[in-house]
Order: sequence, then structure tokens, then C-alpha cells
Amino acid sequence: MKNVLVTGGAGFIGSNFVRYLLEHEAEVQVFNLDALTYAGSLENLKDLPHPERHTFLQGDICDQELVNSIFQEYAIDTVVHFAAESHVDRSIFEPDAFVRTNIFGTFTLLEAAKQAWLDHSPPAAEVRFHHISTDEVFGSLSPTDPPFREDTPYAPNSPYAASKAASDHLVRAYGHTYRLPYTLTNCSNNYGPYQFPEKLIPLMILNALEGKPLPVYGDGKQVRDWLYVEDHCEAIWLVLRRAPVGESYNIGGGNQPTNLEIVENLCEILDEAVPESPYKPHRQLIRFVTDRPGHDRRYAMDITKISTHLGWQPKHTLAEGLLATVRWYLEHEEWVRAIRQRGDFKAWMQQNYAQRGELA
Ligand code: NAD
Ligand code: DAU
Repeated sequence: MKNVLVTGGAGFIGSNFVRYLLEHEAEVQVFNLDALTYAGSLENLKDLPHPERHTFLQGDICDQELVNSIFQEYAIDTVVHFAAESHVDRSIFEPDAFVRTNIFGTFTLLEAAKQAWLDHSPPAAEVRFHHISTDEVFGSLSPTDPPFREDTPYAPNSPYAASKAASDHLVRAYGHTYRLPYTLTNCSNNYGPYQFPEKLIPLMILNALEGKPLPVYGDGKQVRDWLYVEDHCEAIWLVLRRAPVGESYNIGGGNQPTNLEIVENLCEILDEAVPESPYKPHRQLIRFVTDRPGHDRRYAMDITKISTHLGWQPKHTLAEGLLATVRWYLEHEEWVRAIRQRGDFKAWMQQNYAQRGELA
């Protein structure tokens, strides 16, 4: 692992991973390819450790010529592929971008890797394509179903999940057909610093601070398996260094509260962290709104494989992670201001919540 191409490294998990890699891997050069869509920002890459080992490249993963030239120019030996359209609600309104970036973009990267690493003799040694996927490809669990395992059949429900499932299949197919050395991880809901405030946890923190409604979809009893983003980065790093080619691993946080419990928890943390707030108790801001169409009820990850094979366990409890996250958003007002001014943020909030009733 010398010249690592990170795609989507200006987004939430990607930027956390770039930071983690620069801190933990002394010899590595990181080439960060990101189109800077509404979800990506150079604000996420300020104050990187060892910035001399990081090169930012603005560009689209669907651009085959560009991607091929990056492999050649920087002698890429490792890909960590995060770039994607990632928000389920947006995939319901505008699935086109999800099909393009998540499926065609992944195909483009696989082609570039195949051409650079395999289409000559002898093929390059010590190369790796690591694909970042999601638990959503497995569908939805009932309250009594066991957690998802690596061999749980795929049953994606949203356009987002279907596009991620398609990209996973392409990665596996390139591994099987062309012997492209790959690994794949399916991860549960991440939270922590630098998450774009369209997602549940940062949206609730920032709305509560401004006394805005806290929109809980449906009955709020849906369950997610929350993982602190730093724990996810550590798991990916471990997989890159230690996992055999062709393996996939589930990564989860072992926390399965309901959405309503998460929101109430955040309200309690904010009541204490901002004692002078005129909106206390913040839970009075909770509003139940129209549910997400096709909303998956429950996700939960069985992490036996990654813990027994690679010795990974999440380090942060949910209580610690939520507290750290609230503190981070309180301490980064400038980041919040910059991010909220970006692209279509206001228009999106109006579009999404207009159809959910009183919050328009
Ligand atoms: P994000 O939306 O915060 O960031 C995505 C990044 O990809 C952005 O910087 C964006 O500019 C970039 N991007 C989008 N389209 C691009 C294109 N065509 N070319 C180049 N760059 C492009 O997403 P995230 O939450 O950080 O998720 C990262 C990855 O992890 C995604 O693949 C997602 O499916 C997966 N994942 C996310 C979670 C989660 O909870 N956030 C959980 C499991 C898996
Ligand atoms: O499970 C992994 C997935 O987690 C990732 O693959 C996705 O990229 C990531 O966006 C996330 O998807 P979710 O749909 O689970 O995340 P989101 O933060 O949008 O929503 C979390 C839960 O909270 C979900 O059940 C919907 C609910 N919700 C969300 C928002 C934005 C609300 O009740 N109100 C809201 O305003």
C-alpha cells in the first residue's frame, strides 16, 4: 500500500478515512478523487495531518479517461472506493444520479484498475481494490430476525440500496472473472464529525440548536445499527492490511436503538451541553412526520467474521460517540455555516420536508 486512490475523500466517511490513513500509515501517498457534489467539501479536508502526503484531484469517477490517467500518472496500487450518492431520501426523488455514480462510476474504476493492473504480463503484484458498501443491500429485518451475516442474500429496497448492490456485484464479478484482487465491506449507519446535515444525527443536532422541528419519520420505531465513523475507518484500515483477497466483512456498531431513542438521547445531551438554550427541553421540538416511502424497518449487523478473523471490535459506545459528535458540531460553527451555504441544501430541505406536512 504505497499510492492509494481514495474516491469520495471529500465526503463524510471518506474525509475521516483520509485523515485516519495519513495519521496511521507513515509511508502512504493519498490521491483523493472527488467531484465535490453537494455532499463533498474541501472544508472537510482542512488541517489534515501530513498534508504533504495528500493530493486532492477534483473529478468525476465516471470519466474513464481521467480515471485511467490517474492510475498511470500516480502508479496507483490501492483503491479505497467511497464515492457515491449516499442519501436514501434523495434516491427516492432523483434515482438517476445514483444509478450513474454508484453503478457506472464503480464500473469505470474497475475497468481502470483492470487495465492498469491486469491487462499486461506479468500482472501487477500487491494491488487491492477495496469497495465500501452498506448493510442496506441486505434489505430489512423483522424484530425477531437474526442480524445480517456476510452470506445473507441481497434484497435491496430503495434505489440507493439497489445501486449499491449492483456495484457490489460488479466488484465481485471483476474478482471472479478477471481475478481483480478485491475486498469488500458492508457497513451500518455511520455518525460523527463532518457528516452532512441531511442525515438523521447532524440534522437533529443542528435543528435543535436553532429551535427548529425535529422530524421523526413514521412512528420513529425503526432501528439502525449505529457506528462511530472512526471505528469504521479503523476496520477498513485493518481489512486493507490483513484481509485475504476476495473476502467481504460486515461492520457494525452493536448499537440498535430506535430512531426516536436516538433523537431523545441527543435532546438530553443538548439540554446539558447548552443549559442556556431557550429551546430546553429540546424534546419538545420532536414532530412525527410522514414516513419515508418503502422505509426499511430494522438493520443489524453480525460482526462475528471481522472480530474473529481480524480482531476488530468497535471502540466507542453509543453514549460516548453521541457526546463526541454533539461536542464536535458545537465546536465547529464555521464548518456548519460553510456547509449549509453549499449547493442545494435549502432547496433540498424544503423539497424533502414539504411532503412531510407542517415542516415545509
Ligand atoms: P457522502 O455523501 O458524505 O460523500 C460522498 C462523496 O462522494 C462526496 O464527497 C461527493 O462529492 C463524492 N462523489 C459523489 N459523486 C461523485 C462522482 N461521480 N465522482 C467523484 N466523487 C463523487 O457519503 P458518505 O456517507 O461518506 O458515504 C461514503 C460511502 O460509504 C458511500 O459509498 C456509501 O454508500 C457508504 N456507506 C455510508 C454509510 C453511512 O452511514 N454514511 C454507511 C454504509 C456505507
Ligand atoms: O445503513 C447504512 C446507510 O445509512 C448508508 O448506506 C447510507 O448511505 C446512509 O445515508 C444511512 O442511510 P439511512 O437512511 O439509514 O440514514 P438517514 O440518516 O437518512 O436516516 C436514519 C434513520 O432516521 C432512517 O430510519 C430514517 C430516519 N430519519 C431520517 C431523517 C433524515 C428520520 O426519522 N428523520 C429525518 O429527518
